[in-house]
Amino acid sequence: MAYRVVLTLGLSAAASALVLPPRAPPRGAATRPLHASMSAPEMGQTALALLRSLDAPQPTAEVLLALFAACTEVSSSIATASCDSFACFNNFGNMHEQVAIDLLAEQVLFDRLRETGRVCVASSVSDKVMQPLSAEGELSISLYPIDASSVMETNFAVGTIFGVWGSPHLVNVTGRQLVAAGTCSYGPRTVLNVALAGCSSVYELVLVDGEWLVSNCFSSMGEGKLFAPGNLRVLPENPGYASLVQYWQDNRYQLRYTGGLVCDVTQLLVKGYGIFVSPSSPDRRPSLRTLYEALPMAFLIEKAGGASSDGRSSLLEIMVTSPDDRTQVALGSADEVARFEEMVGPLALSAEKPAMSHN
Ligand SMILES: *[C@@H]1O[C@H](CO)[C@@H](O)[C@H](O)[C@H]1NC(C)=O
Repeated sequence: MAYRVVLTLGLSAAASALVLPPRAPPRGAATRPLHASMSAPEMGQTALALLRSLDAPQPTAEVLLALFAACTEVSSSIATASCDSFACFNNFGNMHEQVAIDLLAEQVLFDRLRETGRVCVASSVSDKVMQPLSAEGELSISLYPIDASSVMETNFAVGTIFGVWGSPHLVNVTGRQLVAAGTCSYGPRTVLNVALAGCSSVYELVLVDGEWLVSNCFSSMGEGKLFAPGNLRVLPENPGYASLVQYWQDNRYQLRYTGGLVCDVTQLLVKGYGIFVSPSSPDRRPSLRTLYEALPMAFLIEKAGGASSDGRSSLLEIMVTSPDDRTQVALGSADEVARFEEMVGPLALSAEKPAMSHN
């Protein structure tokens, strides 16, 4: 009960008006010490207050607030969409114009970014075009407007992925040039996870009555037996991957995988352990895009105290030479990622891959 009362005080007036009066928790319900993991940014802080407390540079802060505002709009489009087996549409509210939700999301994101005047170039995974937005902008943005839109019809959670780059273009950059990156997941709760260069944590914000409020902070990843095995279709041609999956099963790891990249990766932040992988094989190119998926997610996981790899080194070392680039991906706690490097290894380009073993 104390938890509920104190949390209420932390929320904005508008939001607290919606909080139910305190009542006794059901017998056996878990409680937690409030603020146990939070120090400087307080639970319940607004996005603006968070960015101020982190000393975010003005252009970065303006761009992030624009992205957050766009995610708010996208979330209501997703929540009210109707779907058939091909796509989801916003056909409630405006019966005369059916717009696919992922196109709508892309439009909203570009519109909000353009309004800031801070963005030089933005590029969406849908066409991979480098769109000039503002001549005087100094940041560039990579966008995955709705990742896993193919599972939206099933009502699995989907997400937005964004990378904010401190460069005037998105070619010949590495993840070290990211000044911020984040995701929004549209699930039972609508949740942002965002990390900034120069700050060693990932901040979680939850959408409460139209306002983003800080709800958690992730800064360490330890060991724990959870695995999310992406791109399993390459298993027959990638013996290293097959033996890694066998290792997880033999050691009673828990499988938790949805096929939505944002959820499959952000669960690692929340749990504070585990591993997500998406390997390739000699015959099948990697499934994840370096610029739009791998690098922003690697930035988040490394900021939360985890590790990333393409099988050889940190994903943040990879040079993006083209918006079409794809890469193998492993994300998670350091020991788990090291095991991926040992057992799966670098991108396999020929069928002659040494047999892998591990004891
Ligand atoms: C990227 O680097 C390559 C090789 O150095 C160069 O040919 C190309 O012009 C560069 N592209 C951009 C957009 O800077």
